[in-house]
Amino acid sequence: MKVPFLDLKAQYESIREEIHRAMQDVIDCTAFAGGPFVARFEEEFARYCGTRFAVGVGNGTDALWTALLAVGVGAGDEVITTPSTFIATAEAITWVGARPRFVDIDECTYNMAPDQIEAAITPRTRAIIPVHLFGQTADMDPILEIAKKHGLHVIEDACQAHGAEYKGRRAGSMGEAGCFSFYPGKNLGAYGEGGAVVTNDPQIAEKIRVFRDHGQRKKYYHDIVGWNARLDGLQGAILSVKLKYLEKWNEQRRMNAGLYQRLLADLDTVTLPVEVDYAKHVFHVYATRVHDRDEMMACLARQDIHCGIHYPVPLHLQDAYQLLGYREGAFPVAERCAKEFLSLPMFPELTAEQIERVCEGIRSFLAVTV
Ligand SMILES: Cc1ncc(COP(=O)(O)O)c(C=O)c1O
Repeated sequence: MKVPFLDLKAQYESIREEIHRAMQDVIDCTAFAGGPFVARFEEEFARYCGTRFAVGVGNGTDALWTALLAVGVGAGDEVITTPSTFIATAEAITWVGARPRFVDIDECTYNMAPDQIEAAITPRTRAIIPVHLFGQTADMDPILEIAKKHGLHVIEDACQAHGAEYKGRRAGSMGEAGCFSFYPGKNLGAYGEGGAVVTNDPQIAEKIRVFRDHGQRKKYYHDIVGWNARLDGLQGAILSVKLKYLEKWNEQRRMNAGLYQRLLADLDTVTLPVEVDYAKHVFHVYATRVHDRDEMMACLARQDIHCGIHYPVPLHLQDAYQLLGYREGAFPVAERCAKEFLSLPMFPELTAEQIERVCEGIRSFLAVTV
């Protein structure tokens, strides 16, 4: 039995007719760029996140970039974030002209360790970007408190955390802005590229709305130099259909995680994800840690079980960020985790048989190596 890392087809088959109808509506109205389908999705997604506004943009990287611009982060500033994330978090900081400043992660949640933040604050620090990695929120209360104390903006990178909660509050709704990606494999994924910024601040929402459309409020009258960072109509309509199922799909992911937990909990050589007290984890990625990760991954692949690594190299050790001057050893927890992370197959439609197959594969590998 093959166990893919991700199976987008299985989900598409379950909502096929609805998706086709939604796409046909957009085509019938020729509402391709922005327009009513995007506006409707923005309203629905804001309601889902518990924020006043959602502004659709081209992708999650655009969401981070435009959110930083909207709060006024720019050249010469520093932004604190984690090295244990997808590079887009840091790219957005770089492309507003600021400098990413990393802090190490918590070994249990893999999110930014709040007790490391104050040591990284300098007179140039303007913002903090906590990343809700793998679908579990960072510990937001201490982060928000530190930000308040030092007058810093907080922008949440919720690109992996659609529907995740922190003490009952939705991911994306706690900072000044929350940034989402609708890349196809995300918990809420488009059929192409997409992203959104959610916020309670009308000025931030308006700035992003204007910026994403070439700085124009009125066609061909450009108030500022903007960019084309719009969400397209087809994606808006598709996301509206899929949003209705997000809670159910997140529950299925949580059940799948529960089954992995039951089947693997006795293995002390495999560290499983932990859902901490304050969090509702939505398991975008089911990241385990094992010492001989590469060997286990290869052994599972030979059995047609396909895993991923999120991420093999922390950002401060990427070639692209050598200019920041960090050396190996700067963030020992992030570095250790990067060597050990192994993401097991995880998607809502994964069957119990497939999960059992993955766990048998892991046990057969360990039986040989231990
Ligand atoms: C944590 C994180 N931030 C930002 C992004 C960027 O999103 P996108 O690929 O839609 O630009 C991603 C997407 O993979 C992500 O996982």
